[in-house]
Amino acid sequence: MVDQPVRRVFVPPQSGDPNPDQPPPLNPARITGVASGFMTAKALFVAAEVGLFAALPDDGATAETIAQRCQLPVRSARAIADLLVATGLVEHDGERYRNAPDTEAFLAGRGPLDMRAMLRYWDLVSYPTWTRASTAFRTRQGVRAEQLSEEQTRAYESSVALVTAETAADLAEAYDFGPHTRLLDVGGGIGTFAKPILRAYPRLTATLLDLPDVVDVARAEVAADAFADRLDLVAADVFVDPLPAGHDVVVVANFLHLFSPERNLELLARLAEVVAPGGRLLLVDWFRDPAAPHPATRLGSGEFLMISGGDTYEASDVTGWLDQTGWTPVEHLPLAAPAGLIVAERVG
Ligand SMILES: C[S@@+](CC[C@H](N)C(=O)[O-])C[C@H]1O[C@@H](n2cnc3c(N)ncnc32)[C@H](O)[C@@H]1O
Repeated sequence: MVDQPVRRVFVPPQSGDPNPDQPPPLNPARITGVASGFMTAKALFVAAEVGLFAALPDDGATAETIAQRCQLPVRSARAIADLLVATGLVEHDGERYRNAPDTEAFLAGRGPLDMRAMLRYWDLVSYPTWTRASTAFRTRQGVRAEQLSEEQTRAYESSVALVTAETAADLAEAYDFGPHTRLLDVGGGIGTFAKPILRAYPRLTATLLDLPDVVDVARAEVAADAFADRLDLVAADVFVDPLPAGHDVVVVANFLHLFSPERNLELLARLAEVVAPGGRLLLVDWFRDPAAPHPATRLGSGEFLMISGGDTYEASDVTGWLDQTGWTPVEHLPLAAPAGLIVAERVG
């Protein structure tokens, strides 16, 4: 029971020193903050899209300067900047706006990591998809549009590559591809995993299999790479089309989380049909630690459901599926958290 008369939705933060003998009064600010998060998120997406963070120098800029640099009406520049000041991503001294240190590092395009590709994906694809979240949570069916535009496909694949590139580099180091001759990369996207593996193993050749729209994007992405002549691109739906044979190692990276357990059993059984005994299956994914879910897996459980009815699975879920589909689990190696690698071998 709330024993304090809280009858206002928007309450300014407490000023002055809190009384150490009394708990702070209840304030609905946390609820309004989370509930209006979609507005703040959209302001963030627009800011990145119009180059607001890149337009803020170290000593800051006025709303008028931002408006001119980002080609916005002044009132819009001020409204967006003020929304972001409320989050702490932008700082304001009464006249000039400047990037907070993390904003400068990750959103201005001149720091150690550029996260704008992820914002673009969340804006163009995730945001409209989540408007149907209620249906997805009730039915466990994906609610993303069946067909993405070319711009959306590029935004999705670039964002995935931004997130998975570190894990791909880890895999090329953590697993010895030396004994293998031909790799199949299922749902290989724009070659984020195939590239570092082919670079590290010059005798290896590979097939990247993905949906036709994605293969079109991947073709342009890998064309200039030194190993392009060792990488075949196959446009196919892995659940429907005949799968290419002749591969002794299969990588399935960040793919199982897109689908239901039933679909994953179907996939693993299909792959077992085209890999000879002794062939290896490398399952790379974000595995959920039930005792302490990683922040990325918490987000992933919702996002992967929205996309196509998926979830973040525990490693024990996956080894259970392997046992039922002609594969023997061999080892489970941690990669950059929350990613892990489950290695399986085709049963003889
Ligand atoms: C999350 S991305 C992972 C891309 C890449 N493996 C990585 O980890 O960077 C999943 C990929 O699976 C592809 N995909 C989804 N459904 C597919 C299907 N039925 N057949 C083939 N590829 C599919 C998507 O187009 C996308 O490129």
